[in-house]
Amino acid sequence: MAKLFAFAFALLFACGSVIGQEDTTLEPDTTLPPEAPTTVPPTTEAPTEPPATTTVPPEPETTTAPETTVTPEPETTTAAPVPDTTTAPAPVTTPAPEPNYNYNITENNVTCIMIEGAVTFLVNYTTVNNETKTATVVLPKHPKADSVITGTCNGTDGQEEIDVTWGSAGQSSSVKVEFGIKGDSWSVSSFVANLFMDPVTFANGTDAGKTLSLVVDYGFSPLSVPVNHSFNCHSSLSAVNITATTGDAPYTQRVSSKLEGIHIQAFNMVPYEPDFVSSVHCSADEISDVVPIAVGCALAALVVIVLIAYLVGRRRRSAAYQSV
Ligand SMILES: *[C@@H]1O[C@H](CO)[C@@H](O)[C@H](O)[C@H]1NC(C)=O
Ligand SMILES: *[C@@H]1O[C@H](CO)[C@@H](O)[C@H](O)[C@H]1NC(C)=O
Ligand SMILES: *[C@@H]1O[C@H](CO)[C@@H](O)[C@H](O)[C@H]1NC(C)=O
Ligand SMILES: *[C@@H]1O[C@H](CO)[C@@H](O)[C@H](O)[C@H]1NC(C)=O
Ligand SMILES: *[C@@H]1O[C@H](CO)[C@@H](O)[C@H](O)[C@H]1NC(C)=O
Ligand SMILES: *[C@@H]1O[C@H](CO)[C@@H](O)[C@H](O)[C@H]1NC(C)=O
Ligand SMILES: *[C@@H]1O[C@H](CO)[C@@H](O)[C@H](O)[C@H]1NC(C)=O
Ligand SMILES: *[C@@H]1O[C@H](CO)[C@@H](O)[C@H](O)[C@H]1NC(C)=O
Repeated sequence: MAKLFAFAFALLFACGSVIGQEDTTLEPDTTLPPEAPTTVPPTTEAPTEPPATTTVPPEPETTTAPETTVTPEPETTTAAPVPDTTTAPAPVTTPAPEPNYNYNITENNVTCIMIEGAVTFLVNYTTVNNETKTATVVLPKHPKADSVITGTCNGTDGQEEIDVTWGSAGQSSSVKVEFGIKGDSWSVSSFVANLFMDPVTFANGTDAGKTLSLVVDYGFSPLSVPVNHSFNCHSSLSAVNITATTGDAPYTQRVSSKLEGIHIQAFNMVPYEPDFVSSVHCSADEISDVVPIAVGCALAALVVIVLIAYLVGRRRRSAAYQSV
């Protein structure tokens, strides 16, 4: 009986410490690349398995279950919204193999900036028939063959930036991300997109042929990330504020944007590191971690309480029989 109580306390303590750990947003997540699905489950309670508890098998499962929900294979979640036909005007003739490297700026063997993840823009537009339609423009997870990537690890005013341009001359689109540093933390200081509204994607659009300029705020949380760390977000992030213009005129139709499987580093100083440096997860991931773990712990605690009640009851009963 004492053993059982000890086990129950150990379990609750382990649950508490797991949740506590997940709460600390700045806990660096030990460098596992996002593709690796084999995240090691927390080993805190493996050894405290008393012999009597063979009837309590849900315990290890409930602790590992959140891990698996946290690592939705970025490939599958981001693959869906990438309709290739909408991004390229005439792509049918060019099935060029997609490179699998990341958007990065590397100087002096230091990859100061690296970005991976799908950036999607949903742009409502007015057609010549006075209808409203929605066009989808995507910056794919990995650079395409025609992507041109420029940028600097040492810009003026202590900024770093990366520019990605794609599409043919005179009809190109671009995304430019600027980063700032304050003390030992970096943050995204500006995210700007210039999208060419090609007449295929924006079929019959009254603005087709113009360029749509967007200033996007994704409300990154945490707002800043320690130097030598990356920002990693399995959860989808939607823009919280977009300022849209064509030429000098405000764009009146609705524009939205989301980031999926986004992983960003800037102001990295660790040299010779081709992978992302150890990451800090976005708050959305932390929340999605904590809820299933808390539910799992609550269920495990319930099982243990019921078991104790049952054993206590049985002991009382057998004691009663003996006294009779
Ligand atoms: C960085 O980009 C270059 C091309 O610009 C590419 O050759 C290289 O593989 C990329 N590095 C990583 C780690 O993705
Ligand atoms: C980068 O690494 C290569 C190979 O290790 C080396 O030859 C080169 O000098 C390095 N460049 C700088 C600027 O450190
Ligand atoms: C405008 O776009 C939003 C999504 O961004 C969509 O929900 C809405 O239906 C669109 N409006 C029209 C009139 O199509
Ligand atoms: C377009 O439709 C809106 C209502 O949906 C209407 O107010 C507007 O006058 C129409 N414009 C034209 C040019 O037909
Ligand atoms: C950064 O750029 C400034 C001038 O723009 C230069 O003086 C400085 O040496 C550069 N730093 C590095 C690390 O390249
Ligand atoms: C464009 O408009 C024409 C008529 O104005 C219509 O026949 C055609 O189906 C429209 N195309 C699309 C893709 O909506
Ligand atoms: C959205 O961004 C614009 C310009 O960046 C700013 O003026 C405006 O106040 C922002 N709106 C909200 C709701 O944050
Ligand atoms: C970042 O890493 C570089 C190279 O390992 C190191 O020199 C630098 O001190 C680190 N900076 C911080 C703030 O940890």
